[in-house]
Amino acid sequence: MSPSRIRVPDLREKKSRGEKIAMLTAYDATMARLLDQAGVDALLVGDSVGMVVLGYENTLAVTLDDMLHHTRAVARGASRALVVADMPFLSYQVSAEEAVRNAGRLLQEGGASAVKLEGGRPVVEAVRRMVDVGIPVMGHLGLRPQSVHQLGGYIKQATRPGDADALLADAIALQEAGAFGVVLESIPEDVAKTVTSALEIPTIGIGAGPHCDGQVLVSHDMLGLFDRFVPSFVKQYAKLSETIQSATRAYVDDVREGRYPESLSKISGVPNR
Ligand code: KIV
Repeated sequence: MSPSRIRVPDLREKKSRGEKIAMLTAYDATMARLLDQAGVDALLVGDSVGMVVLGYENTLAVTLDDMLHHTRAVARGASRALVVADMPFLSYQVSAEEAVRNAGRLLQEGGASAVKLEGGRPVVEAVRRMVDVGIPVMGHLGLRPQSVHQLGGYIKQATRPGDADALLADAIALQEAGAFGVVLESIPEDVAKTVTSALEIPTIGIGAGPHCDGQVLVSHDMLGLFDRFVPSFVKQYAKLSETIQSATRAYVDDVREGRYPESLSKISGVPNR
């Protein structure tokens, strides 16, 4: 029997039982299936797809259509993990009405079970409206990549006491608006610890230390697949970029030297695609 699907309320129950939540990003069906089978609790279809898959400098160019395309693929590949889709830049900031409609599309057409958006008090009205119509929402505080120009780069946030207090107030406002969890990105670990103990909903950290209720990483960073840069907090569990390059070099050599393919008469038993 396949293990039962993780649902939104399960994450809060995990927090209350003191069980850590493991989340990774995924952008296509094959990777979603592999990560799901390896036991990840939640798959985030991050707008980081813009950087690690689509080759953009940052996440700002990612559109709702891009997110729908990748969310559909991940939803097809995942059978157990909770699928959370990122709301891209400008899909929720203009009005609460637009936010509800766009989030609804990620569930209705994309097959996600929840959405994630960046920001605190400025977006709580949109969060409340989405939650009112049954759309589960995850917040995202600290380093908010969609605000990279305003922040002046991918810089650690909440390092001054006033900023840490503001972040805590944002987190509480998101919880009160009905958010079921909040990502804390690139903040000092003592700030993440304070926020985690102040909230009933789980915190999911990325570059925020060990005290969060769960962790999320960009899978291409964690697997060593994205080789343009590696954020300092990332642990690389594999070096897939090297594996891919050496396999490709071997293939190129084999083709050039006539070692591949063998005559078809020698190959048996493998079904064609
Ligand atoms: O887009 C993304 O991958 C994210 C994670 C960094 C949390 O938002």
